[in-house]
Amino acid sequence: MTFRKTIAALAALLITFGANAKEKTETIHVIPYPQSVEMQKGAFKARGAQFNCDPAVDVASQTAIRAFAIQLSKISGKTSSFATPIGIEKSARAGSVKGFAFYKDASLPEGGYTITVGKRSVIVSAAGRDGFLYAIQTLKQLLPVEIYGRKAASDKVSWKIPAVKIQDAPRFGYRGAHLDCCRHFFSVAEVKKYLDVMAIFKLNRFHWHLTEDQGWRIELKRYPELTEIGAFRNGTMVGKDWESDDGVRYGGYYTQEQIKDIVAYADALGITVIPEVDLPGHMVAALATYPELGCGTGPYEVRRKWGVADQVLNVGKEETMVFLENVVSEVADLFPSEYFHIGGDECPKTEWKNNPDCQAKIRELGLKDDERGTAEQHLQNYVTYRMQTFLETKGKKIIGWDEILEGKLEPGATVMSWRGAKGGIAAANAGFDVIMTPNSHCYLDYYQAKDKKSEPLAIGGYLPVEKVYSLEPTDEISEENKHHVLGAQVNLWTEYIASPQHLEYMLLPRLLALSEVAWCQPEIKDFDRFKTTVISHEFPILDLLGYSYCLEIEK
Ligand code: ACM
Repeated sequence: MTFRKTIAALAALLITFGANAKEKTETIHVIPYPQSVEMQKGAFKARGAQFNCDPAVDVASQTAIRAFAIQLSKISGKTSSFATPIGIEKSARAGSVKGFAFYKDASLPEGGYTITVGKRSVIVSAAGRDGFLYAIQTLKQLLPVEIYGRKAASDKVSWKIPAVKIQDAPRFGYRGAHLDCCRHFFSVAEVKKYLDVMAIFKLNRFHWHLTEDQGWRIELKRYPELTEIGAFRNGTMVGKDWESDDGVRYGGYYTQEQIKDIVAYADALGITVIPEVDLPGHMVAALATYPELGCGTGPYEVRRKWGVADQVLNVGKEETMVFLENVVSEVADLFPSEYFHIGGDECPKTEWKNNPDCQAKIRELGLKDDERGTAEQHLQNYVTYRMQTFLETKGKKIIGWDEILEGKLEPGATVMSWRGAKGGIAAANAGFDVIMTPNSHCYLDYYQAKDKKSEPLAIGGYLPVEKVYSLEPTDEISEENKHHVLGAQVNLWTEYIASPQHLEYMLLPRLLALSEVAWCQPEIKDFDRFKTTVISHEFPILDLLGYSYCLEIEK
C-alpha cells in the first residue's frame, strides 16, 4: 500500500507565484471559493506588516489574529507587531491604516467576513469569531504556501497578497466531517490533525462516533467497566476474510480529560464536536460489559467482525432505558454542542420479536404494526423519543441516522440521511431538519480511484472526488422546505482503515470537495477551477503539513 504524494504540484505552484505578476493577478486559489471575489491591481507586502485590531473585536478572535501575526513573523523572518489601537475603526474607514486591520462589523452575517487587500493595507471585517477565523484561513490561502510551515521560509519567498476585494459567508451552517474511532482507534494527536485540516477548509462540525459493537471509546465515571471491558476486543477479522481472526487484543479509549482537551482544541478552531452514542443497535461492546442489558442471547464479547450484529439492547426493560439515560447524560455533560447524535441505524428487530420483555413493552405501549411500520419499529421510536425528551431536559436536540424516520418520528429531531438522499428528502419535506450525508456522495470509506487493485483496501463502491463535489444537498426538496437542510457531511467509517496515513488518504482531497458543497452557493461551484486549485495550491499545503492524500484528481 502506498500513499502517494506530489512534488510536481509544488513545482506548478512555484511557476504560478514565481511569475512576476505585474498587474492584476487572474484569480485566487482559495478553497472553499469565496462568494464574491473582485481582483484589483497590485499587491500588498505582508512581510513585517503591522497588525491592528479594533478593541471591539472579542478576545477569542484577537487571540486567533495574534497567532496569525506570530506565524507570519516566524515564517517570513520579520516581526509583525500586534496592537489594538483606539480609533482603528475610524482610521480604517478613512483608508489611512497601514498593514493588517481587523474590525468588528455586526451587520455581517454569521460566519461571514470581508477582506479588502490594497497596496497599503488589508482590511478585514467580521461580525464575530467564526468570521474572523474564516477570514484568517482565507488570508493564509492567499499567502505563499510556506505560511503553513513550521520553520522560517527561504528569503526567496515573496510575501505578497494580490489586491482583491472578497465578500464571503457560508451557504450552510452545518459543514461536517464524521470519524469512526471505534472500528479502529485513533489517538488524540491523530484526531487533532483531523480537526486541523477540517478548519483549513472551513468545516465546523466534527461528528465523533464513539461507541460501537467493536469497541466503546469514551470513559464514563458511572460505568468504568464500559472502558475496562468494552474498549477492547480479543481479535479482529483480517481484510475481507469473514472466517479469519488475528487473535490480537485491540482497543483503546479517550479519558474524560482527553475528551475535554479535544473539545477545547476544536472550539479554538471554530469546530463544534457532536458526540454519537449509537443506540439501541451497535451496542455489543456494552452488552459484553453488562450482559443483563441484552435480550438473553449471550454470551457476548466485544465484536471481532465487521457487519451488523443481531444482538441489540433489551429496551423492554426499564433498567436498560435508565442505563441509556445515564450514559447520554454523562456524555452530554462533556460536550457543549446543542446536538447529540443518538445513532439509531441498523438495529435488527429479530431479538425484539422474540423477547418477552420487548413484547410486553409493545403491549403496554399499545404499539401495533401499521402502515408506517412494524410494532418493533415503533418500539425503536419509543426509544428515540425517550432519548429525545431526556436530552431536552439537558438543553440538547437529537440527531439520528435516517432509520429514526421509520415508524413515527416526533417533531424536533434532526435526520441524518445516509442511505442515499431519500430519507433526507422525505424528512425535509415532512418538516424535519436534515443533514445530508448520502452514501452515494459522502462515504469516504469507498474507493476513490478506478484502479482498485493499486488502492489500499476499501469497503467497496467508487466515489471519486468529482462525485462528492456534485452533491446538491437540497435536490428534490420542495422550495418551502429547503431551509430544513442544515448542511452536509462526509462520513469516514474505519472498518478497513487502521492507520492515520490511510485515514488521511481516504479523507483527502474528498474533504475539500465537501467543503465547497457546504460553503459555496451553487453558482460559485466550478469543478475545473476547484481541481486546478487543489493540484496547484492545496496539495502543496497538505505536503507541508504532512498529510497523505490521493492523487486521483490529477487523472
Ligand atoms: C451507517 O452508515 N450505518 C450510518
